Amino acid sequence: MESLWRPAAILIVLWCCCCAQRVRWVTPHTGSTAGATRLTITGDGFAQERQFQLNPPDDQFGNRVTLVSETLSVPCDVERDSTHGNQIMCYTRAMPEDQYLVRVSVDGVPIPDNKICNGDYKPYSCSFYTRWWRTPTIYSLSPVTGLPGTLLTIRGRIYSDVYGSNTDLSSNGLNVRFLRSYMGGMPCVLLKPNSDELYNLQLDSETASWGYMSCMMTGTYVGHHNMSYILDSDYGRSSTEKNLYWVSSLSKLSMFQTFAEVTGVSPSKGSIMGGTLLTIHGRFFDQTDEPARVLVGGLPCEVQSVADDRITCRTAERRVNEDRKVYPGENRAASFCLSGEAATLQPTCVIMRLTSVSMTPGGAPSVIKAPNCCRIITPRWVSMEQNR
Ligand SMILES: *[C@@H]1O[C@H](CO)[C@@H](O)[C@H](O)[C@H]1NC(C)=O
Repeated sequence: MESLWRPAAILIVLWCCCCAQRVRWVTPHTGSTAGATRLTITGDGFAQERQFQLNPPDDQFGNRVTLVSETLSVPCDVERDSTHGNQIMCYTRAMPEDQYLVRVSVDGVPIPDNKICNGDYKPYSCSFYTRWWRTPTIYSLSPVTGLPGTLLTIRGRIYSDVYGSNTDLSSNGLNVRFLRSYMGGMPCVLLKPNSDELYNLQLDSETASWGYMSCMMTGTYVGHHNMSYILDSDYGRSSTEKNLYWVSSLSKLSMFQTFAEVTGVSPSKGSIMGGTLLTIHGRFFDQTDEPARVLVGGLPCEVQSVADDRITCRTAERRVNEDRKVYPGENRAASFCLSGEAATLQPTCVIMRLTSVSMTPGGAPSVIKAPNCCRIITPRWVSMEQNR
């Protein structure tokens, strides 16, 4: 029975759908070159999206949308929940400024050209244009390093001073709102905790598209991040000025770097012969990217345990001849490397801010002498006095 029913069912489905399939129009017609513009495609005979469908990457079933220019063909990611027989919703990806025609295939079969806006030549109704003036920007970001949970402010062409999915117009008269903001993979929240109050979202004037937006990072990841935000309507995701990217030691680009915080070290005195069990207290000792490393006076301190808020390590033993330049009472800096890109010669690993600084007589050195460890972004000093 099964073997007879399946072809019959497929034939019936094809007969019902094939002749009526067409694309009538798409909205909006313009959007961001950085993607995340939500397109609505109106037409007939689209696939009903099945709710519990498994969706392997090569799956041809359901609706597939492609945006096609003279030189590029870019998928538009279909949102199943808002898709049915007469409507498809999809999110654009980053695409250079151009005119793109909408192409739809249903269960692996493309809707023919003559069923896309009646087969007109480059029809406006079935076109989507990416434009710089529909692309929000991040022109500056501050700060560029901080603890997880830092409040950030960007300046750029933000177009709107309205947040959330209401229908209010922005004060400059534009019909556009902030939807979300991201730092790395995590949301950057615009609202103060448990309130409807925004940290800061303002345009320069009543006719401006430039302005400021502030948001609070979430998550505890320590490492490199990129930021972006998304506007609704015929805008989309923000793009970033090239000069906002910093190069890390592994030639990775990023806009923002989180670091851990050291609030104290105990004990603050240890034998110069090594073997002291040190406890480093702080926050955000995150080992997602790399295991924690601790250097004391340039020598590795063998890590015994790592928790979110403390690291214990045993200081290295020093051989006397290594220390011939060390005089009694001379300070040795303890520097703490968390994570880090240890494979390179000059790892940028310290991502640490030492907030409790204990200086011993002799003063703070002005250069950080921790050759194997890190460019220190917010250099602060902690010294360990080492007694013989
Ligand atoms: C940040 O964005 C740049 C440019 O798109 C990219 O090359 C880089 O890999 C991104 N970095 C991270 C940490 O995602």
